[in-house]
Amino acid sequence: MTHQEIDQLVKSWIVDAATRPANPRVQQVVLRLVGDLCKAMEDLDIQPSEFWAGLEFLTKAGKANELGLLTPGLGLERFMDIRADEAEARAGLAGGTPRTIEGPLYVAGAPEAIGFARLDDGTESAQGELVFMQGTVYDADGQPLPRAKVEVWHANLLGNYSFFDPTQSNFNLRRTIYTDLDGRYGFQTIMPKGYGCPPGGSTATLLDLLGRHGQRPAHIHFFVSAEGQRKLTTQINIDGDEYLWDDFAFASREGLVPPVVRVSDPAALAAKGVDGPFASIDFDFHLHREIAAAPSADVERLRAAA
Ligand SMILES: [Fe+2]
Repeated sequence: MTHQEIDQLVKSWIVDAATRPANPRVQQVVLRLVGDLCKAMEDLDIQPSEFWAGLEFLTKAGKANELGLLTPGLGLERFMDIRADEAEARAGLAGGTPRTIEGPLYVAGAPEAIGFARLDDGTESAQGELVFMQGTVYDADGQPLPRAKVEVWHANLLGNYSFFDPTQSNFNLRRTIYTDLDGRYGFQTIMPKGYGCPPGGSTATLLDLLGRHGQRPAHIHFFVSAEGQRKLTTQINIDGDEYLWDDFAFASREGLVPPVVRVSDPAALAAKGVDGPFASIDFDFHLHREIAAAPSADVERLRAAA
């Protein structure tokens, strides 16, 4: 069939078959996606067994709650970020801390603190490197933002996230920190490790068929929000990780790899009240002011709540 014939046929199924008013947006999107899928089936001569294999793959991935992992793995979450960047640029917003993907592992309801929090529950203190990370949240004019909300979450040394990994304590490595009156935030934690897609899972299986790995460099996730500012979804990567620029989720970006400073000076240790060396990461967040001309940066999606 020609693409024109396919378009007519798919329109007859999706649009002409309606006997009641349709949701126009849903109709528009479904018409396009089904049409594009039929064209791909025609152009690539996709056989029924291949089609059903694809459907079974998606069913299995959905049952295993892996679609949120497949999305970054196929670049689609990065693509949404690129589009959001372009929309902000068109609206005249420039600069600011780069956004990068949220991933599927945020959990709402983390314990709150003002100014400073410790993220880890201490169970990996003996094996992990002690980290202090700190910085200031600024608005677009370069003014510090008191009481900005910094939500932070990262994986443990095994690359697992609390809540999704029931062996960890509730909200281990997850906190909500409000900046102090100078716009400063800070936290103590253990240096996260990189991690990979669950072995044998849907995402790993597909990546294997594509000749790709499913590894992520070590990183720390953030949501940063404040009154009148656009919500920032981002991550910092830990410098030196072997997958730093080879992330299966395509989330590494210039500007999100702060230097890691190793501190062992006795006076500095004493000032922190610790008795061993630690790593220190300084990182400031620069937000954009909210403007009506850009689509909302506060993405609605189903998220876990503990
Ligand atoms: Fe992550």
